[in-house]
Amino acid sequence: MTLLRLENVAIDVDRDGQTRRLVHDASFELDRGETLAIVGESGSGKSLSALAVMGLLADGLRQAEGVIEFEGRDLSAMSPKQINQLRGSEISMIFQEPMTSLNPVRSIEHQLTEGMRLKMGLSRRGARARALELLQEVGISDPAQRLRQYPHQLSGGMRQRVMIAIALSCNPKLILADEPTTALDVTIQAQILALTAKLCRDHDVGLVLITHNLGIVARYARNVAVMYAGRVIEKASARDLYRAPKHPYTRGLLDSVPRLDLPRDRPLSPIAGAPPDPMEELTGCRFHPRCPKATDRCIAEVPAIHDVERHQVACWHPNLAQKNAREAVA
Ligand SMILES: Nc1ncnc2c1ncn2[C@@H]1O[C@H](COP(=O)(O)OP(=O)(O)O)[C@@H](O)[C@H]1O
Ligand SMILES: [Mg+2]
Repeated sequence: MTLLRLENVAIDVDRDGQTRRLVHDASFELDRGETLAIVGESGSGKSLSALAVMGLLADGLRQAEGVIEFEGRDLSAMSPKQINQLRGSEISMIFQEPMTSLNPVRSIEHQLTEGMRLKMGLSRRGARARALELLQEVGISDPAQRLRQYPHQLSGGMRQRVMIAIALSCNPKLILADEPTTALDVTIQAQILALTAKLCRDHDVGLVLITHNLGIVARYARNVAVMYAGRVIEKASARDLYRAPKHPYTRGLLDSVPRLDLPRDRPLSPIAGAPPDPMEELTGCRFHPRCPKATDRCIAEVPAIHDVERHQVACWHPNLAQKNAREAVA
């Protein structure tokens, strides 16, 4: 059974008596043991999509349309109490800056064992034994000493490892990781992502990896969904997406970030302009003001996401493979 399924999810904000749509028509699927990366510039709707899954949308925001299913159960129909029960046990979340999600005045032991005692009913002793195992699993040496320490005594990478241990502690089926490594040095980012992806695979956990850095997720995700200005504009396997991006925005993103698989001195070309303000009306494809391929149709009509050469793309003029491009011209 599909672990997580979002279908045509829309998220609205009500502000000053007006309603604006922040996320349009978002659809994703994920199975256990798999990693899905959600990628896009800041403000594209990645975090809102994850928060909607967790039932943690801020006041004024709401899921206005669509279905979110976890193991076939409709999350949108669950009571806050039921969702609260899933959170931290079957579904856990890892955030960007562990210093703000870890409690500075509580020991690592307290924070790592709290969930296991509350949600799994483990004894203090049982939880401590498992905490030691978990720390070892996330590559922390001398775990007994680490348990006694406080977050400020650990390096950024170490804190993120602790966050992974906490996320895994109650045997979740799904982990949502929202920019989990953005605050870290690039080399450490790669190590932490590799570790997160490996542990999720080993424990048969589905992982949603949210990041603005398309360059770095390539080898850790099976599938990638690219978001732009509140819409999913391209979905494909990581392999296909990197080899031959179909959406001009995906192409632009790939050209603008350093990639682990290409020479370090490759010149980078950022996409000119900035994403639209979600509070402003904009007709057609939301990327059209920045798109080198935009035509009148792109300004007038929103392109629906559709199948193109093993990808799904929301674009009127997707980049086609050479052979097909020639046929299209002929
Ligand atoms: N509480 C809120 N009220 C109004 N707008 C919001 C709120 N939270 C997020 N937004 C807007 O929704 C859009 C998507 O936000 P978000 O999902 O956090 O983006 P991302 O995680 O991709 O950077 C942004 O334009 C952001 O400004
Ligand atoms: Mg975000």
